[in-house]
Amino acid sequence: MSKINETDYDDVPINRGPVKAAFNEILKRRISRRQFIATSSALFVTYGTTNISNSELLTSALSFSELSHGLDETLHVAEGYEYQVVVKWGDPIFEHAPPFNAHKQSSNAQLKQFGYNNDFVAYLPISHSQSSENGLLIVNHEFVKSRLMHPGSPDAINLSKEQTDTEIAAHGLSILEITKANKEWKLQKNSKYNRRITPHTKMKFSGPATGNQRLRTEYAPLGNSCIGTLANCAGCITPWGTVLTAEENIQTYFIGQAQKTEEFNSYKRFGLLGDKTARSFWGKYHERWNLNKHPNAGLHAGWIVEFNPLDQNFVPVKRTALGRFKHEGCDVHINIDGRAVVYMGDDQAFEYVYRFISKEKYQAGNFKHNMALLDEGELSVAEFLDNGSVFWHPLIWGRGQLTKQNGFNSQADIVIDTRRAADLVGATPMDRPEEIKVAPHTGNVYANFTNNIRRAPLALDAANPRAFNRHGHILELIAPSGDHAAREYKWEIFLLAGNPNVKFDKAYYHSKISENGWFSSPDNCTFDVSGNLWIASDGFYRYGTADGIWVCATTGNNKALTKHFLRAPREAEVCSPCFTPDHKTMFCSIQHPGGDSSFDRPSTRWPDFNDSLPPRPSVIAITHKQGAVIGS
Ligand code: FEO
Ligand code: CA
Ligand code: CA
Ligand code: CA
Repeated sequence: MSKINETDYDDVPINRGPVKAAFNEILKRRISRRQFIATSSALFVTYGTTNISNSELLTSALSFSELSHGLDETLHVAEGYEYQVVVKWGDPIFEHAPPFNAHKQSSNAQLKQFGYNNDFVAYLPISHSQSSENGLLIVNHEFVKSRLMHPGSPDAINLSKEQTDTEIAAHGLSILEITKANKEWKLQKNSKYNRRITPHTKMKFSGPATGNQRLRTEYAPLGNSCIGTLANCAGCITPWGTVLTAEENIQTYFIGQAQKTEEFNSYKRFGLLGDKTARSFWGKYHERWNLNKHPNAGLHAGWIVEFNPLDQNFVPVKRTALGRFKHEGCDVHINIDGRAVVYMGDDQAFEYVYRFISKEKYQAGNFKHNMALLDEGELSVAEFLDNGSVFWHPLIWGRGQLTKQNGFNSQADIVIDTRRAADLVGATPMDRPEEIKVAPHTGNVYANFTNNIRRAPLALDAANPRAFNRHGHILELIAPSGDHAAREYKWEIFLLAGNPNVKFDKAYYHSKISENGWFSSPDNCTFDVSGNLWIASDGFYRYGTADGIWVCATTGNNKALTKHFLRAPREAEVCSPCFTPDHKTMFCSIQHPGGDSSFDRPSTRWPDFNDSLPPRPSVIAITHKQGAVIGS
């Protein structure tokens, strides 16, 4: 998430990194096994030509001519490709929904329209399991920018009740059916699947914290229900067909005096400080977001939420076994032993990487059974050792320091205060963990660390090897023999983003990286049919180059040779690239275009370029002009 003329709040740490060795020494230790080229004049280290592995045979050419870096008002895709705007903020998504009117918004209209600042996008085939012409788009609406959303460019604190209600209605998710005909993707407004999930939607808790005293509020007296989801960043589709959506920067939604609540210590570690961290002021009109009135309400947010997108009446479930933190996203992998493994990042400077392993095994076709998988299992947190191992520390009540003496009375307290539990077992503070995903072709795990300008030179470790890490990096985690339940993995540096020609950046890519192939601030990622890694960036524009999508092979000769594929309009980030099963359409989110500007003086009017309209966050579909597989 990016913010207007302010430091990213995810940049400001609550946790502090340890004091360790310096970059040179650390990186050499980790990369020396490969072709490590470090001279006194250049710390730019590269992959050289290695033996061609078997998987190289699967790697598609990525032969497109790459885009050049740039920064302007519109969106660019590589030559040979084109894009279509599938749905934009305000588009009616139901048959009887009112048309969008930027100058006359209302909460009633917004509840029937596509929400704001779309982040996560997934495509779920519906007419048959491999359909690339008919499916559901499932989209998160992470947050809003009041100055950009409303005429008159108001500050969030000055909104009327109707404007506030409109913003609330612009949060949550949109589920909508789309079909492709004559190369065009179209919204099916009459679909029975279309749904808005919002901060008002009734939900349930499940897992270890359900019914716990701390989750009891006036509107949830049994502590087993809650109202709404918000700050939904990334997510995934599970192998059993449900959606997981991740609640991230929830601390910006609660007003009141956190310090006067009994949960203050918990809130402090989370970075939820009521008036001090609020950036939306819904609590002025709705007391659910006012900690003075509902002191425990903050504990209802920060979870992973599961729902069935095929059932419009499904009551979404907050899966407490997966922990409570600033969940960037999650990815589910079925382990070789059949158990479901979930990887999750906590996106804030010096926070952690988590893994959950279900107790029961996944059963293909047994929906009811699979719907309980994420309620029971082992949550653990990663320690990245300088010797190239990852150790997963279980967060189990009663073990080690996770006891009453340290304020944990049950597993419920562990999952509510996950960060505090992780602090006690020796987790490694990372440079803002964003999306973490398993590559289907190798089973290796790719973890994006977006940046961390607060990491001091004396707080380096091998997995976070750069001080003032402006550009972020990607690590590869390798489960031994593909066993994602193993206690110990190996890890490698996949790339260190930044400019290979700037010594300070200490970048690390393939040696043939082009002048447009380097990038900054990896955030979301996905894999194509050939196993190439598609990386979306969030933050490059702050250094004068538009954010976008870069792609590279993950194995073979061109490993980490990133190429520039898509360039977003100014001040937008790109989120959540994903493919149809035939890999001929790529969807992605263009979030907060013109994000540093205002409704009245926008820095771009993408995608409408209509003088009466502000820029509009949108989901786009990219296709090859001749209908080829993307990236071929
Ligand atoms: Fe919502 Fe970490 O980006
Ligand atoms: Ca981000
Ligand atoms: Ca974001
Ligand atoms: Ca993100």
